[in-house]
Amino acid sequence: MVNTQKIITPEQNLDRDCTTLSRHVLQQLQSFSPDAQDLSALMNRIALAGKLIARRLSRAGLMEGVLGFTGEINVQGEWVKKLDVFANEVFISVFEQSGLVCRLASEEMENPYYIPENCPIGRYTLLYDPIDGSSNVDINLNVGSIFAIRQQQGEDLDGEAKDLLQDGYQQIAAGYILYGPSTVLVYSLGRGVHSFILDPSLGEFILAQENIRIPEQGSVYSVNEGNFWQWDESIREYVRYVHSQDRYTARYSGALVGDIHRILMQGGVFLYPGTKKQPNGKIRVLYESAPLAFLVEQAGGKTSTGTQNLLEVIPEQLHARTPLIIGSKIDVELAESFIKKELC
Ligand code: F6P
Repeated sequence: MVNTQKIITPEQNLDRDCTTLSRHVLQQLQSFSPDAQDLSALMNRIALAGKLIARRLSRAGLMEGVLGFTGEINVQGEWVKKLDVFANEVFISVFEQSGLVCRLASEEMENPYYIPENCPIGRYTLLYDPIDGSSNVDINLNVGSIFAIRQQQGEDLDGEAKDLLQDGYQQIAAGYILYGPSTVLVYSLGRGVHSFILDPSLGEFILAQENIRIPEQGSVYSVNEGNFWQWDESIREYVRYVHSQDRYTARYSGALVGDIHRILMQGGVFLYPGTKKQPNGKIRVLYESAPLAFLVEQAGGKTSTGTQNLLEVIPEQLHARTPLIIGSKIDVELAESFIKKELC
């Protein structure tokens, strides 16, 4: 399918090079209000985290003690990689002394992490997956970071972050950083989806594409077919149908951010359905599927659990999971139709 999105031409280079992420946020919000300044500063710090992680990844194979496992198991029951720990700490570190983020919650931490010196004034919570797809790290394939910003509501006196257990429309901003051949940051403030590429010579994320629109339909389906016999019959039926159609081709990288980036740019559908062992699938709501759903919906796509709009899901706990179907509107609706048919 031809991508008709506007690409910035070389003639517009100077203006483009000056459109840094923090400037873009202010342009988007058309304001210099304190809230706009906060968001601009927040995005700037997230960008700094992205640069630090990208730098570490680019040299990982050359440095001692960067790759491999720590020997610990995280709250998800997964073996922790050294780079997971590093990237998790990077996000904490960039928000220290910021006065912005009082609390961070991530895949790597059982409970939210507080930065006490920020809390009297810090009105935001950062939710993030520091290294998504970390099984790719040791073999030099793409990985990503996913983030969402939510307003801190109340004091969270019991420290259980119950105020975070709300739907995905409560996100103020969301996005991801893809560490691939180049480092790409894609974000939305609820006003379209925009991408930036890290220019290593400037050390800045420079605007690449504004108002990205996902094609209504694509040719890619992205799902781990190794789970075929672990799925419900409806998902198997759907995949059999896809196999029977000429127009589909399979792509699956093992890193959600990479697979979603492809679909955002070229259309198609990504699925992580529930399995017999994990009826809610694998993907975590608050720092994986909800931020990506926010982006994809902003780009004109659709997201679903199979039976519900994913952005309407209210997680029962911080690390809750949900089945995920996400991508081009027509492709998501097709997958949903198989699930709904079985429920009738
Ligand atoms: O949620 C973590 C993650 O690594 C995603 O990035 C990826 O899409 C998925 O898990 C891969 O899981 P599996 O190996 O079960 O297909």
